Amino acid sequence: MSTAPVEDDALNQTITEARELRDEFQRFLHEYEFGMREIETKISILRDEFAHHHSYNPIEHVKSRLKTPDSIVEKVARRGIEPDFDSIREHITDIAGVRVTCSFVADVYRLFDLLTAQDDITVRIVKDYIARPKANGYRSLHAILEVPVFLSSGPIMVPVEVQFRTIAMDFWASLEHKIHYKFQGQVPAHLVDSLTAAADAATELDERMEQLHREAHSTTLTALPKPPIEV
Ligand code: GTP
Ligand code: MG
Repeated sequence: MSTAPVEDDALNQTITEARELRDEFQRFLHEYEFGMREIETKISILRDEFAHHHSYNPIEHVKSRLKTPDSIVEKVARRGIEPDFDSIREHITDIAGVRVTCSFVADVYRLFDLLTAQDDITVRIVKDYIARPKANGYRSLHAILEVPVFLSSGPIMVPVEVQFRTIAMDFWASLEHKIHYKFQGQVPAHLVDSLTAAADAATELDERMEQLHREAHSTTLTALPKPPIEV
């Protein structure tokens, strides 16, 4: 069965518009991917520089992710944001996310300071959930950083959500996230209490490990036996 020419025109117009929207959405997501890569590069340079020049690696691991289109659309609807690219750019700042897991709390702040002191980085928001943990015990240092990305059309500033945390904080957050997901937010009270207690234990572990690390360092430097004299 053949469609009438008028219907064909309408269909072609719809297909063209859908393609344009898809291309624009891809370009939009690319901006965030490039911003994420700029931040990843900065962190990996800091990591390598530390390893080579200070013989110390403050970073355990780095994980990056781009929000999926489904998740962006869901957040736009949940927050009542205007569904156009400019509003999404303005209101959703966690499309690009980088999580930096450090050995110790001091490293978390050191890395944050080193990254945010860089001339081309603009700090938009900082949420220090280490100094002020969430009620459930969640701890991490969050920052929305803007980094320039140089496109063929010129430079743009891209927001990237960077989360800095220790291994203990990461361990806790990952379990809490799984439990939250399993109970779809309705976590039984006894598990909520256990999680909060576990967060306290993680804080204590962070303190003890850092103390141990400091002691080991000062001991090594002062009490290391002298190497034998080569003859
Ligand atoms: P979102 O709308 O979820 O992005 O929250 P927000 O805009 O209030 O930002 P916030 O800085 O509080 O949290 C951002 C991100 O931090 C979340 O997407 C999680 O990755 C992480 N996060 C925050 N709170 C918790 C928590 O209680 N548990 C876990 N596991 N992760 C959390
Ligand atoms: Mg988020």
